[in-house]
Amino acid sequence: MPILLPTPANLEVVAATLRAGDLAALPTETVYGLAADATNPQAVLKIYTAKGRPQFNPLIVHVPDLVTAQIYGQFDENALKLARTFWPGPLTLVVPSGGETIPDLVRAGLPSLAIRVPAHPLMQQLLQLVGRPLAAPSANKSGHVSATQPAHVAADFGPDLAVLNGGPCPLGLESTIVDCTTPTPTLLRAGALSTADVKRVVMLESVDNHLSPTTNAPHAPGMLLKHYAPKTKVRLHATQLDVGEALLAFGNTAEILTTTQHQPITLNLSPSANLAEAALNLFAMLRELDALSPTAIAVMPIPQEGLGEAIQDRLQRAAAGR
Ligand code: TXA
Ligand code: MG
Repeated sequence: MPILLPTPANLEVVAATLRAGDLAALPTETVYGLAADATNPQAVLKIYTAKGRPQFNPLIVHVPDLVTAQIYGQFDENALKLARTFWPGPLTLVVPSGGETIPDLVRAGLPSLAIRVPAHPLMQQLLQLVGRPLAAPSANKSGHVSATQPAHVAADFGPDLAVLNGGPCPLGLESTIVDCTTPTPTLLRAGALSTADVKRVVMLESVDNHLSPTTNAPHAPGMLLKHYAPKTKVRLHATQLDVGEALLAFGNTAEILTTTQHQPITLNLSPSANLAEAALNLFAMLRELDALSPTAIAVMPIPQEGLGEAIQDRLQRAAAGR
């Protein structure tokens, strides 16, 4: 199936595909998701196979609203506060599994469940049409950068996968993940919702060094070091350029460009140094530069505040990936 425009007829086709236990890629406000009926283990297995994902890496379940989420997960006071404040939106909560259990395969055998209510109108419509929770990791091959445009999904999975075309994802960065299985919540993944915003609502356990995990410990299984990796070497905090390197810029490039005679291939995450714009462009620009096979992708320094934390996290993973 090709990339499908979001007509009512195509929405029905995609919903039927999902109900039948097949995969479809759907737009969310963060990144494209490779979706399957979360209640159907055979369908979920197809996600792992298609992604080439290690089976211990559990999936996020998407539901239309908090009431539905509470069928599958147990929400304590902190989880409720966060859900009420930020859903629908780019926040995933890890909560103890609830009365109606999602299959082990989705949770990779963990007693907890990662769940979120996405804000994208097409994703919301699909959830209504399918009438079942949807398991959906980012729609990229395991270890590859997340897909923020339909063409990225097609590039990773080929033309057989149905991709619902919602255009570019409005945020372009994965959801923030907060673990609410303990009395004080813990940040598991910095993401499109800034840590500062989360901290305005609940106390957060020290953001222990999630930027440089050294083990594959299942406490935060998503934080494998090799993740979000392009083929090309990525060099961070670049203040000068070597010959053959492409430049992934942030803000004003005048100074760094004086360090090379050549006019390097340059993409600018945000010429005006706006972190939200940089988040939106990050994966698309990494893919674009990667496709040109420079000797390395040199990335200018990104400030650590606000969304810069999540951007820096993804870049460090991209740099560590090779
Ligand atoms: O924005 C997003 O969250 C996107 C869109 C499609 O919703 N999804 C996404 O999924 O980024 P994925 O599979 O690429 O990342 C989910 C992360 C993984 O790192 C996984 O290990 C972690 O969530 N995770 C899932 N269940 C978990 C659990 N029970 N405990 C801890 N981490 C969990
Ligand atoms: Mg992913």
